[in-house]
Amino acid sequence: MKPIKVGLLGLGTVGAGVVRIVEGHQQDLLSQTGASIEIAQILVQDKSKNRGVEVDADKLTEDPRDVIENPEIDIIIEVMGGIELAKSYILEALDRGKHIITANKDLMALHGPEILAKAAEKGCDVLYEASVAGGIPIIRTLVEGFSSDRITKIMGIVNGTTNYILSKMSQEGAAYGDVLKEAQELGYAESDPTSDVEGFDAARKMTILGTLGFHANISLSDVEVRGISQVSKEDINYGKQLGYEVKLLGIAERQDEHISISVQPTMVKKSHPLASVNGVFNAVYVYGEAVGETMFYGPGAGGMPTATSIVADLVAVVRNLKLGINGQRAFAPYKEKKLKTDEQ
Ligand code: NDP
Ligand code: HSE
Repeated sequence: MKPIKVGLLGLGTVGAGVVRIVEGHQQDLLSQTGASIEIAQILVQDKSKNRGVEVDADKLTEDPRDVIENPEIDIIIEVMGGIELAKSYILEALDRGKHIITANKDLMALHGPEILAKAAEKGCDVLYEASVAGGIPIIRTLVEGFSSDRITKIMGIVNGTTNYILSKMSQEGAAYGDVLKEAQELGYAESDPTSDVEGFDAARKMTILGTLGFHANISLSDVEVRGISQVSKEDINYGKQLGYEVKLLGIAERQDEHISISVQPTMVKKSHPLASVNGVFNAVYVYGEAVGETMFYGPGAGGMPTATSIVADLVAVVRNLKLGINGQRAFAPYKEKKLKTDEQ
């Protein structure tokens, strides 16, 4: 059987997880898709780096054309991060008819509509489950699981790094800077952790969740953002004395044609389920008019949990390839209605 060849852009924390799952779960992936999947080429910045994951040296390249222009490759997984370069590689790959899987929330929050439009034009899949809440399949849940409902509220802890920091400060009295360093060493933080601690990463994720959950054209600039860099141990201890935990919460609400979205440190009553979401874990609460209250919980960052979502997208793309239905089931809002935001 001819394998389906995949190109990987990036072999860092998440890329290594993808290699481990694709290699380690070959038989399961074969039974799920009826295809054997091979990671054929991997783009990195520095081939000589020691990576802690085994890959054939001849699969590594520092030349993006070996992946993007490779006619044998059908699917590209983008896990290199950044915005402009990632965007140009993805648009070029789409032009060549390749299907895209990405974990890049920065890119999808800012340029999702352009990328999805190009994918639709080219009949390609673009899936990005890993871009929000790491190992929790929240995007698929909003797009498919709640397709019959009208969602009016999405609220949650969607950044693992800041939740790790706040939990350790609360539970162990740890110092902010020390725990941030730990989160970086564990591979949870962004390459520039300002995105995490200032709430921008969570704002990008809330933009994606709001767009898909409310089927609306929401911009990053619609999100009111405040991070945790100004949260002190005193704030946390004071909250605890009053029966609250401080959490960085993203809240998106819809009332008729009006939406409001914010990310900010929030005092959460200890009896609320979100107060006991600790460490790198994320949780997303979704309220639908028909279903009522639902909540989803799991690891929000880290190589293996994030790779789980990426490889689930890979299974979906490969199944579509086998059925010849690519380009028909992207994660996209069904209409691009501009709802009124707080700013308007
Ligand atoms: P890393 O920094 O660990 O890895 C990035 C990889 O991309 C490295 O292998 C690096 O090469 C390669 N790379 C970066 N820039 C270039 C370039 N210009 N040309 C070629 N190769 C390049 O990042 P992560 O794995 O942590 O994150 C990857 C993506 O996944 C990001 O978009 C991130 O936001 C997202 N994400 C991360 C999560 C996490 O828990 N870490 C969770 C969910 C999403 P080299 O190794 O040679 O330096
Ligand atoms: N830096 C991000 C976080 C990675 O800590 O949540 C997962 O998107």
